[in-house]
Amino acid sequence: RMLKRQMQCRLDINRLNAVFLAIYESLIPSEEEKVKQEQFFMLLEKLVNKEWPEAGLYLYGSCANSFGVSKSDIDVCLAIEDAEINKSEVLLKLADILQSDNLQNVQALTRARVPIVKLMDPVTGISCDICINNVLAVVNTKLLRDYAQIDVRLRQLAFIVKHWAKSRGVNATYQGTLSSYAYVLMCIHFLQQRRPAILPCLQEIGHTYSVTVDDIQCAYFDQVEKLRGFGSGNKETIARLVWGFFNYWAYNHDYANAVISVRTGSILSKHEKEWTRRNGNDRHLICIEDPFETSHDLGRVVDKFSIKVLREEFERAADILHNDPNPCATLFEPY
Ligand code: CTP
Ligand code: MG
Repeated sequence: RMLKRQMQCRLDINRLNAVFLAIYESLIPSEEEKVKQEQFFMLLEKLVNKEWPEAGLYLYGSCANSFGVSKSDIDVCLAIEDAEINKSEVLLKLADILQSDNLQNVQALTRARVPIVKLMDPVTGISCDICINNVLAVVNTKLLRDYAQIDVRLRQLAFIVKHWAKSRGVNATYQGTLSSYAYVLMCIHFLQQRRPAILPCLQEIGHTYSVTVDDIQCAYFDQVEKLRGFGSGNKETIARLVWGFFNYWAYNHDYANAVISVRTGSILSKHEKEWTRRNGNDRHLICIEDPFETSHDLGRVVDKFSIKVLREEFERAADILHNDPNPCATLFEPY
């Protein structure tokens, strides 16, 4: 009877694995979509370079970090070296240029926390946000993309977690829950912590890439093609990892004292970061250190109400994966 139960269990986990992989596959953007994004980006580059020949235009966020699901908006950064520029003026000028090139719904949001121009391309249906000089975001996009090359389980886990977070309504910073960027860092950290480790800590090994942005040195090992197979000593399946991820955030994370840190590949203490007290609006109820802007806690948007929502959702997910014979239907149920 024991053997029979063990075999049943193995069958269930294999079936669950197949279901997670199918969800992952269905979320990957098609080649056709990628080509459209590139064409649209080239059009933007042409328009921008006419006005600012010296400026650089960069993709960042999910369209460039390999964690973008199909039909995502694209994030673009316009980098202008000139220190004298007035961001609002540039954004208004940019909106003007784009408007007269038949792009739709062009809006300059100059008073937003991150000021942007929003627009939509009527030909491809792609929506896009353009910000000015957010070069750190371009660099952390590269870091995430490089991590994704090392072991495919990172991209699989992050797609499932992002899909879960969007379905359950816990992927909205304006409502006090976490950004997609924060969830991806949580996944990287989780895979760095497995034994044997599935991901290395790129900032702790010999730096092959180094740039200084806004006085912050961003350096890490970026020759990731040399690290393929790094995690092959660990045979854990995606189903096991998804369960482990939710179980960690539901029952094993020390919310009172711990800070997760991709930069060091370890857990730091709130104490050493001086994140023990409320600091202005930063409450540090769940602490996720930004890999480059180390004073930046990605959990700072979380308040005393939304921390409850988040933790209940982690527990719900962990319990479903533990007990439910057909967990996928319930796990991604719209809230
Ligand atoms: N970013 C950042 N700091 C934050 C939030 C975001 O630097 N606190 C940058 C990151 O470079 C991130 C990008 O902004 O990749 C976009 O953030 P976000 O919208 O959270 O993630 P996406 O990967 O674009 O996810 P989605 O598919 O949900 O759009
Ligand atoms: Mg985005």
